[in-house]
Order: sequence, then structure tokens, then C-alpha cells
Amino acid sequence: MRSVGILGTGAHLPEKVLTNSDLEKMVDTSDEWIVSRTGIRERRIAADNEASSDLAVEAGRKALEAAGITPDQLDLIIVATVTPDMMFPATACLVQDRLGASKAATFDLSAACTGFLYGITTAVQFIANGIYRYALVIGVDCLSKITNWEDRNTCVLFGDGAGAVVLGPVEEGYGFLSFDLGADGSGGNLLLQPAGGSRIPATVESVEKKLHTISMSGGEVFKFAVRVMGNAAEEALKKAGLTKDDIDFLVPHQANIRIIDAAVRRFGLSEDKVIVNLDRYGNMSSASIPVALDEAVREGRIREGDTLVLVGFGGGLTWGAAVLKWSTKEKLGD
Ligand code: ACO
Repeated sequence: MRSVGILGTGAHLPEKVLTNSDLEKMVDTSDEWIVSRTGIRERRIAADNEASSDLAVEAGRKALEAAGITPDQLDLIIVATVTPDMMFPATACLVQDRLGASKAATFDLSAACTGFLYGITTAVQFIANGIYRYALVIGVDCLSKITNWEDRNTCVLFGDGAGAVVLGPVEEGYGFLSFDLGADGSGGNLLLQPAGGSRIPATVESVEKKLHTISMSGGEVFKFAVRVMGNAAEEALKKAGLTKDDIDFLVPHQANIRIIDAAVRRFGLSEDKVIVNLDRYGNMSSASIPVALDEAVREGRIREGDTLVLVGFGGGLTWGAAVLKWSTKEKLGD
């Protein structure tokens, strides 16, 4: 099996910023409540004419540029999203067309906030076993488009964005060392968009009842998140033959600072080892981890040889973690 790593990262955020004080004018909330209960100060919101594919294409372009790979070299594009431009065609097909990645196979992947981790785990297998050489995995969501802006329990939490990575072969000993994915479908009703699929197709009534927007049992999801974030990261470390002392950087899903803090306490990590950007972007679902990773890479925080743990959770319910030894150097001639 070939070693597979991240050759380049990219991100794209919409321009519009929605602050907590803006939200104070929309629902019965306060900056103090949002910051103390979630850690979020502001988030980005896609424009009316901006859809997930628009953000995804830009993030993908930047990741390709960083990797030094041209679109026509891509063998595979996976777009992890729960807010595709439309039910079909897949957003990955729209992205393939606009990037000009004519030889790439494409599909969308639905695992909510864990989508990016499911996406990289899938793509890595194709490269490790030699079927493909280069894959682009994009985590993108425009949750603002399916948010009930009258529901203070959810509307303060989410933001829009896209993050991307190009995967390819790297020197042995570098790249992905292990993965841990899981799901508990019995918790599907805790976090969902009830209507719009084959169970409740769109009707005047479904729209009036706001069934096309996010419904969440926040407290239940919170407890689940605290449990699985730590467990998944620990499991992935174990599979890689490593311990918490080997972690150079934790890149967690950015849903709530209190959920991240619980994982940080469990692993006894110092603050400088944890990548956090939810204060500026809120929960961007599948985009949260790749955007945080891209920022840390571009800031020069993550260096060759660092051990990273990416870990997340989300609707489904789903969870996932990956351990990798950082190197963006491609293994040539392989
Ligand atoms: N402003 C003011 N008050 C609020 C707000 C708000 N924006 N939202 C809720 N409240 C109120 C509630 O009405 C409730 O009031 P009540 O007790 O009078 O009924 C109270 O605050 C709830 O308070 P807490 O129980 O202290 O809230 P909690 O600490 O659970 O925080 C939160 C709520 C932030 C939603 C938390 O539960 C959470 O982060 N849950 C996880 C969410 C998450 O991670 N979702 C992942 C989505 S991933 C994906 O796949 C899309």
C-alpha cells in the first residue's frame, strides 16, 4: 500500500460577515450568551446568488495551486456536503466541470459535519491501493441556506465556507497513519433537515412549518459530541501506535468551544496545540476542519513531520478521526 498525504490545502469563505450583535437584532439573544455558551463571535454568510459549488470551486483551485497539480491530473473529486446546490446532479460534478477536471470521477458524500473526515478516508483508499494518484476532497456547506433564522437555538451556531485538500502519494512514514469512522443512526432524529427528500417532499405545508430547515436537540448532540470526539481521537491514535503525548496539533470540528475544551482537557493538551477558528466562522459543518487546517498551514504553524489528529462529529449521528504525519512533499516516480 502506498503512503498517502495532503499535498496542498485551500479554503474559501463568503465575504459577508454576520456578527453576534447583528443576531441580537434578529432573535432574542445576546453577544454575551453566544460567546459564553459557544465561543462564536461572528460567521460568514453566502450571498443570495452564491451556492456551495461556488465556494467549493474556489477552495479547490487554491488547494490545487498549493499542491502544484493541474485540474486535468485529478482522478477523483469528492465533495462532502449536506447543502449541495441541488439534489442532483452531484455538486462534485458541477465542481469537476468548472475546474476542468475532465478525467476525474466524482461524487458527493453525506456525513454532515463528519463529511470531510469520511471523504478523506474514502479518497485515501483509492490512492493507497494504486487505483488513483490524485484526489481532491472538498468539505463545503452553506448551512445559512437551511437555517431557520427565527430559531435562536440554532441560528447563532452556523456559518458558510469551503475547505479543500489535494491528496497524493508521499514518502513512507508520512501521510495518513490511521482512521476511525463510526455512526449511530439511532440518533439521526437529534440533528436533521426533516423535509426535502423522499420522506417529506416539498409542499406548501412543509415550507410553512419550516421543515426544510435544521432541527437540532442541542443538549443531546452536545453530550454525544463530548463523548465521541475524545473516543474517536483516542481510537485513531491507538491504531497508529501513538499516544496523546505524540500529538503536535489537534484539528477538531469547530462546533462549540466547550466541546473542544472537553477533548483538550481529556488529552492534557496546551492551547497552542489546538487549532481553533470558530470564533470567526462558527460551525461550517464539513468545511470546519479543512478551513482550520488550511489556515494553520498557511500561517506556518504546521511543519514537516508534525503529528496531526483531525477529529469531528455530526449529524447521522456520525464521528471520525484521522492521524497523519505532515508532509506536503509528493513521492515522485511512484
Ligand atoms: N440566546 C439566548 N438564549 C438561548 C439561545 C440563544 N441564542 N439559544 C438557546 N437559548 C436558551 C434556551 O432557550 C434555553 O433556555 P431555557 O432553559 O429557558 O429553555 C437555554 O438557553 C439553554 O441553555 P443551555 O442548556 O445552557 O444551553 P447549552 O449549554 O446546551 O448550549 C448549545 C446550547 C450551544 C446549542 C449546545 O447545546 C451545543 O453546542 N450543542 C451542540 C450543537 C452542535 O454541536 N451541533 C452540531 C451540529 S453538526 C452538524 O452536523 C450540522
